[in-house]
Amino acid sequence: MTNTVLVLGATGMIGRRLVPLLRDRGITVRAASRTAAGGHTPFDWRDPTTQAAALAGVRALYLVPPPLVENPTSLVAPLLAAAKEAGVERVVAVTSLGVEFPTEPASSGRRALEHVVKASGLDWTVLRPGGFAQNFSEGFLRPGIDRGMVVSATGAGKVAMIDAGDIAAVAALALTEPGHAGQTYELTGAETLSFADAAATIGRITGREIAYRTVEPGEMEAMLQGFGLPAEYAAVVVRDQVAIRDGAGARITDTVERLTGKRPTSFAAVAERVAW
Ligand SMILES: NC(=O)c1ccc[n+]([C@@H]2O[C@H](COP(=O)([O-])OP(=O)(O)OC[C@H]3O[C@@H](n4cnc5c(N)ncnc54)[C@H](OP(=O)(O)O)[C@@H]3O)[C@@H](O)[C@H]2O)c1
Repeated sequence: MTNTVLVLGATGMIGRRLVPLLRDRGITVRAASRTAAGGHTPFDWRDPTTQAAALAGVRALYLVPPPLVENPTSLVAPLLAAAKEAGVERVVAVTSLGVEFPTEPASSGRRALEHVVKASGLDWTVLRPGGFAQNFSEGFLRPGIDRGMVVSATGAGKVAMIDAGDIAAVAALALTEPGHAGQTYELTGAETLSFADAAATIGRITGREIAYRTVEPGEMEAMLQGFGLPAEYAAVVVRDQVAIRDGAGARITDTVERLTGKRPTSFAAVAERVAW
């Protein structure tokens, strides 16, 4: 078997940081996304004809599930079966710390995703990150930041926000080193911030006024649907925000430092690196 790692979602917040980390380790990386731009291998969850070529000769698979899908198992399970058939040995899959929130239903799509990963017959590692610091600079909160306003249903609830680069660092280890099979890693930053704290930090760094407004869960859900999120997925986002409002997001784990030997990057350090 070759030393090739297939990185799905290679243009994503984690994937684009993971690809260079793997290359630095001397790994042959097949970076996959829906476009072949930038030398990427074409891969589309909704087009199975793209998948066999992406999997051929791969030793380890980084799996970020199809976005905005509440239960992605009907797309992920066939890919894992094809990976097993193709001789892939290892999968590192991203779910969410939200799986552990007290509000998470036993039947949630994220729990089902973890189940199919664990049942894949591959050596598996599950990464459960908390809220990404980059949500504010690259993700769903960026349009609001550009208009000077962060809106959420998280109230004064705090989150141990994590740098996507720290998640990528853990993924790189799990994909290339021994000792990570059968592990579920809960990944957080080392400090907790409310969304208002995060907005104020970005305001201080950019010299702009960034206001924070908390809204009721129903209003948040309607807003997200207005932005085009499927109703089922908007419900998951708001369920997590309510859990954060009620304190579930404030948990800090030592996993990043234990595995990488480095303290997690602070929210301010992430924000200072952004060309706002
Ligand atoms: N953001 C958070 O705070 C947070 C917290 C906990 C867990 N998570 C989890 O983290 C994951 C997201 O990771 P991320 O932020 O690195 O990803 P991301 O930035 O959301 O990017 C999604 C990736 O999926 C690719 N993609 C979209 N549609 C596709 C399709 N039909 N077929 C193949 N690829 C497709 C996109 O590439 P192209 O568009 O180029 O194809 C992109 O590379 C999600 O599973 C989420 O639940 C996020």
